[in-house]
Amino acid sequence: MLDAQATAAPAVIRREDYRPPDWLVPDIALDFRLDSMRTRVASRLQVVRNGDHDRPLVLDGDGLTPVALRIDGVATDWRLDGDALVVPLPGGAHVVEVEVDIAPELNTQLMGLYASGGLLCTQCEAEGFRRITFFPDRPDVLSRYSVRMEADKARYPVLLANGDPVAAGDAGDGRHWAEWRDPFPKPCYLFALVAGDLVANRDSFTTLSGRKVDLGIWVRAADLSKTDHAMTALKLSMAWDEAVYGREYDLDVFNIVAVADFNFGAMENKGLNIFNSRYILADPDTATDADYDAVAGVVAHEYFHNWSGNRVTCRDWFQLSLKEGFTVFRDQQFSADQGSAAVKRIEDVRTLRAAQFPEDSGPLAHPIRPESYMEISNFYTATIYNKGAEVIRMMHAILGPERFRAATDLYFARHDGEAATCEDFVVAMEDGGGADLTQFRRWYSQAGTPRVVATLDHEGTTARLTLEQAVPATPGQPDKQPMVLPLRTRLFCGETSGPLCDERLILLTEPRQTFVFDDIATRPVLSINRGFSAPVTVETGRDAADLAFLSAHDDDPFARYEAMQQLMLDTLVAAVAEGRGDHGAVIEAVRNTLSDPALDKAFVGEAVLLPSEAFVGEQMLVVDPDAIHRAREALRTDLGKALEGEWRAAHAGAQANRFEYSPAAKGARRLKTVALGYIAAAGAADAAELAHAQFTGADNMTDRQGALTTLVNGDSALREAALEAFYRRYRDNALVLDKWFTTQALSTRDDALDAVLALEKHPDFTLANPNRVRALAGAFTANQRGFHAADGRGYGFLVDIIVALDRINPQTAAKLVPPLGRWRRFDEARATLMRAALGRIVETPGLSKDVFEQASKSLG
Ligand code: ARG
Ligand code: ZN
Repeated sequence: MLDAQATAAPAVIRREDYRPPDWLVPDIALDFRLDSMRTRVASRLQVVRNGDHDRPLVLDGDGLTPVALRIDGVATDWRLDGDALVVPLPGGAHVVEVEVDIAPELNTQLMGLYASGGLLCTQCEAEGFRRITFFPDRPDVLSRYSVRMEADKARYPVLLANGDPVAAGDAGDGRHWAEWRDPFPKPCYLFALVAGDLVANRDSFTTLSGRKVDLGIWVRAADLSKTDHAMTALKLSMAWDEAVYGREYDLDVFNIVAVADFNFGAMENKGLNIFNSRYILADPDTATDADYDAVAGVVAHEYFHNWSGNRVTCRDWFQLSLKEGFTVFRDQQFSADQGSAAVKRIEDVRTLRAAQFPEDSGPLAHPIRPESYMEISNFYTATIYNKGAEVIRMMHAILGPERFRAATDLYFARHDGEAATCEDFVVAMEDGGGADLTQFRRWYSQAGTPRVVATLDHEGTTARLTLEQAVPATPGQPDKQPMVLPLRTRLFCGETSGPLCDERLILLTEPRQTFVFDDIATRPVLSINRGFSAPVTVETGRDAADLAFLSAHDDDPFARYEAMQQLMLDTLVAAVAEGRGDHGAVIEAVRNTLSDPALDKAFVGEAVLLPSEAFVGEQMLVVDPDAIHRAREALRTDLGKALEGEWRAAHAGAQANRFEYSPAAKGARRLKTVALGYIAAAGAADAAELAHAQFTGADNMTDRQGALTTLVNGDSALREAALEAFYRRYRDNALVLDKWFTTQALSTRDDALDAVLALEKHPDFTLANPNRVRALAGAFTANQRGFHAADGRGYGFLVDIIVALDRINPQTAAKLVPPLGRWRRFDEARATLMRAALGRIVETPGLSKDVFEQASKSLG
């Protein structure tokens, strides 16, 4: 029996097999007698037969055994089919009552009801509700919830659930109870409750139509002072969604709870968002500027789900990008509106390229609307989220902002209260926005990053731009159809630095098309895919001189950044091939950017950064991690030396500032640490002292961690002292200690792998906390040279962690598998080691389907 379970491949769920539910559950009442070791859950379901059939009611469960089952008040025998409870019912409508016992304290998967730091909380998306009680656990079954909780008053003084509070009281024996009701029908993945000793940062927001909403951000008392930034972001988000999308909040209360143990970022449960504490807690001493931005972005994301996800939810999990792609696009727009839109776009594209492009070109590639899965948790991917957002962004570009808004209004009006599909969204875009998106729909069905080759010819006063597109083969999709690619394009005059025409939105729809530009009297320089208007790679063949020119003169900030990146990439790729590169063009371009007074510092800080080693690797057929590292470090050194005066000026210029959270101050800090890194790369004798002075003098975590990173990458005597000081100062703050692990995991030194192996044995390393696992193991997989050490010890380290973690937390374990799936891109020796590592995972007895799916597909 055990063997059969270990070897039988998990069932594959297919999109084409979708059938509407056999039974609906318009109302559910839940009664929780909460206890960390034994919680009694009593549920009362009003069930209604859906359509004309005689199939029984099948309630999903996961590890549950009924304590009692009653149908219309009469106790009944029960039957389990696997994990599901099968209830034959004679009529069209019945009341089904089930009681079960669960043990939150023993729930290490962090799905369902679990304990974290003394509190009890839930995570149900995607299929965690079935670990709490028996239920048709699918997003197209929408119910009105009423929830009663009873618990020990001292241990769990605060009791929260979805919707609005309706009553509370004393239960005697030191216990108390509370009742909450959510008037909006919702799928069970949006159910939530929290019980614990929490305090709230309270505020309020008055909506567009004048309704007052009570806001609460709930944390442990010690963290209360770190919640103001999240509260500010929440109120800004509420106002922004009214102004930009006409979306108003709909309950009397909105609560957020921060928990320390969480499998991902945060969860949009109706009226009760639950967050990984790293996306709530922020103060200058413990959070970097990037952390502040992430807090605001995730608070906005979860809040925006109230409409894009909750009021309109997904019919089935193949439609996940309906809510995630759209909501990521919305949170990106929000963040762009708060500060520098250009820098935000650069960051979003960097994320897409680092996380989604490799996925799209590897064995786990899937369209934003997948066709099949074994475990849906594995499909909360950069493709569904980030490429999904790019697809919405392209529709926004094609329709323009006004027609896009008309289309989203129509979408929300048409599908409010429903479980919708991606197709419903596209139809709303067509009907409300007045466009034909027939061919555009291929973005939902075809995986792979399209490649565009651009050729620009000039003769007389005519320029001809010929564009060819191809979508590479991906697993299960050998042949691809041409896509609709919206490419914002402009031509510049390389001599006078002026534009030669207005910007055009080119729609490339054929495999090959030529676009004509008239009245072009001088040799044009091509600026294409401006703002990264399509998530594609574009080969332009522009030479170093043209790229340097655009990096200094393009009027689209993203295109400027992109030209610089391309110049750097070309230089590095050539250096890897030839052993030694010509760094002159990059140095001059960086010098120009650094000395341009019109540029904002945050932009400069981004523009002068070299592409990551992993991204350089993405450009090559066979990745040579050591050669890439050498080439990149050599370019860093030359940039550091050639521009040492400029770097010192940039570093000193931001020196005396006192902490302030504003776009200008953030930009200054960004550039300051980038400059420090280059001063160190130059090998300056005083670099370590400069870094140490920044480290000890910092009044904020951005400067402190930036300095620590510089020291950690070097070999001065101050290195150990800084690591030790940082550790001692923050050993009781888990989120900051995560940074201590990550900084070492990302070290550029030769001994990074040895350091990581030692840190795995550190008393503060634990598999029980997902943030800590990601801080060490997850971060290390991004250290291309360290992780891909030729002897395979990096792979061995990762496999050990995956296998051990899988026994307690399959979801988080499965997230660590994909880096091993890049084996096709490496030399034969490494590829063999990587495949052996995947093989060791797949052959582990008792593997979860989460990890099995990722590892077996990665071998593919
Ligand atoms: N819906 C949540 C969000 O986008 C994430 C849920 C992730 N669930 C999962 N099984 N990975 O914020
Ligand atoms: Zn989301």
